Amino acid sequence: MTNPLGVYVHWPFCSRICPYCDFNVYKNKAVDAQTWTTALKRDLNYWAERTKGRKLTSLYFGGGTPSLAPIETITGVVDACAELWGFEAEAEITLEANPTDAERTRFDAFAKAGVNRLSLGVQSLRDDALIFLGRNHNANDAKRAIETARSVFERITFDLIYARPDQSIDAWRNELSEAIKLGATHLSLYQLTIEPGTAFAKAVDAGRWAALEEDQCADQFALTQELTEAAGLPAYEISNHAALSDQSRHNLIYWRYQDYIGVGPGAHGRLTWNDERIATQTHDRPDAYLTSVEKTGTGLNASEQLDQEAQLTERLSMGLRLREGITLYADDYFYNDDTRAEKLLQLTSDGLLANNCGRISATPKGRPLLNAVIRDLLT
Ligand SMILES: C[S@@+](CC[C@H](N)C(=O)[O-])C[C@H]1O[C@@H](n2cnc3c(N)ncnc32)[C@H](O)[C@@H]1O
Repeated sequence: MTNPLGVYVHWPFCSRICPYCDFNVYKNKAVDAQTWTTALKRDLNYWAERTKGRKLTSLYFGGGTPSLAPIETITGVVDACAELWGFEAEAEITLEANPTDAERTRFDAFAKAGVNRLSLGVQSLRDDALIFLGRNHNANDAKRAIETARSVFERITFDLIYARPDQSIDAWRNELSEAIKLGATHLSLYQLTIEPGTAFAKAVDAGRWAALEEDQCADQFALTQELTEAAGLPAYEISNHAALSDQSRHNLIYWRYQDYIGVGPGAHGRLTWNDERIATQTHDRPDAYLTSVEKTGTGLNASEQLDQEAQLTERLSMGLRLREGITLYADDYFYNDDTRAEKLLQLTSDGLLANNCGRISATPKGRPLLNAVIRDLLT
């Protein structure tokens, strides 16, 4: 597929705000299904007008907690996408869910609406860690949710957060081995990051506890690669693990710097339009988003034409996260700056990057240091 197109729908509401989370989220208040269904469909229509003739490769309901959204809103959005663009064969429709919303009837309703891949925010299989992470489910709830999801959806994935304070490498080995045995075909394994402005950042700044040491993080990262590879779930992206057939088609659009539309409060988009690359962002606040759609037909708050330098920065930052890396052709803008070619040579001879006939990728040695490698390449 030459130029896949995806749609990302951000559902910003959660039953509680987790202390580590800096996503665009709001404590759930009763939402009016009709209001949100109409608004999201209008915003989708706005973008369909501007991307005529393209079909959708993927649709992704992210959050926040989309599993809290009214079923009629999920159904309304899927149907609108089918009508406005149509889906490619094998199109992927993912919904992020919390284990607390794992009733069989609810998952059946999502599947009936067209969702064919479920992403569960499990975060940990240890009760003490789930309490620390401020989650409102325990390990047994999570395992039940995974089982229910596997009985409804052919493709499921779940998220785990590791490299938690005081987490030993043996504890992570046991937890990850247990997670792998739960039979998901895809795993998202994130190292805990302390995001500015979160409750966790305040706790760390107040000295209440400290993040895990970098070398322990690196050891746990290496162990994660080893165990998942051995289980047939190799890392295809820094934090994402799956066999080839189960890789996330929607997220690959982000990492391969392809086109996606973002609707819902605080959603981002990247579109190739009249040979220009456009970055879009909608209003963050739900009320401002609804007002904007009412007045203008879209929740768009800002759009920016990305120049070559900005595009290169994004393409490298996203693409080098992938095991497949990115291709730099001889006439690539990358080579407009001679110092960059020298740095590429240096990083390759340092064994941090590999250059296979123009296909640039991070090596196992370079992957844990990716942010520094990209910074080095671009500055
Ligand atoms: C959009 S969130 C998913 C939200 C979903 N409602 C949930 O909480 O289950 C995507 C994932 O990012 C990960 N994540 C969020 N904040 C993180 C942080 N500070 N450090 C590491 N992983 C984080 C979590 O694993 C989370 O499931």
